[in-house]
Amino acid sequence: MSQILLVGCGKMGSALVEGWLSGGRDPRSITIIEPQLPLPAPLRSRGVQALASDRDLPGTLAPSLVLFAVKPQVMDHVVPPYVRFKESAVYMSIAAGRTMAFFKECLGADARIVRVMPNTPVAIGRGISGGLASENVQKDQLDLAASLMETAGEFHWLTSERQIDAVTAVSGSGPAYVFLLAECLAEAAKSLGLPDDLAERLGRMTAAGSGEMLAQSKETAAILREHVTSPGGTTEAALMVLMADSGLQTLVKEAAEAAFKRSRELAGS
Ligand SMILES: NC(=O)c1ccc[n+]([C@@H]2O[C@H](COP(=O)([O-])OP(=O)(O)OC[C@H]3O[C@@H](n4cnc5c(N)ncnc54)[C@H](OP(=O)(O)O)[C@@H]3O)[C@@H](O)[C@H]2O)c1
Repeated sequence: MSQILLVGCGKMGSALVEGWLSGGRDPRSITIIEPQLPLPAPLRSRGVQALASDRDLPGTLAPSLVLFAVKPQVMDHVVPPYVRFKESAVYMSIAAGRTMAFFKECLGADARIVRVMPNTPVAIGRGISGGLASENVQKDQLDLAASLMETAGEFHWLTSERQIDAVTAVSGSGPAYVFLLAECLAEAAKSLGLPDDLAERLGRMTAAGSGEMLAQSKETAAILREHVTSPGGTTEAALMVLMADSGLQTLVKEAAEAAFKRSRELAGS
């Protein structure tokens, strides 16, 4: 089985490892570098090897894939020591704002690189991720990268870094938009006189239940919306406000554009 070296086992890294193990990957095929040891108990009990530093790695290790799951701001000093795996490995990064050019600068122009943008529902196996590969990544390496992300939800290949920035703006940052909608619903419930606890549950479960319906249904979001909108009814009265000019659609488009612009800035484009 191909050897995976995970660099950084925080929120995202540990969620991915849990997905790989649940998907049947042999724990002996995973090595983790993480300064914050010990690992969380669920990972420790599964027998995954974890080391505090790349300096502790055995000289014989030849990973097929090195995944960088550390914060973007520490990448400059974290990435370079892993250049020694260039012969065997494809390098994968899930960091926002760290471009192909950055990794080629750290690892050499001939390094094989996959940039992926996941989102937080990866932690419960319900994420969606988009990835971009450098031209020299081989077919089996593309398949390995995709299969590792698919254990955490859906994965789609992208064709440009611009698309990575667009995915960042929509699904990468998107969970925060949905959580905000749940907060807004709770606030609306309170202002209509409902008690705080109930208001919070109404906001939370309306977002969660509707999200689950979207995940399970084959219908489009627009059709599902129409199904709950009777002519002249209560939902229609609300949607006339939400869907008015400068309403929710305009706001969400502007919000995603702001996130897209910020993602381009962080990437130095
Ligand atoms: N969370 C999200 O929603 C999300 C979404 C999309 C993409 N991402 C990307 O995913 C990456 C990881 O995010 P996260 O939320 O999982 O961050 P995190 O929880 O902070 O995890 C990063 C881990 O890497 C460790 N680390 C620091 N230096 C290291 C080194 N030299 N070698 C190995 N490990 C090292 C950190 O330890 P210390 O605590 O000691 O520094 C920490 O445990 C980021 O680049 C982020 O942009 C995150």
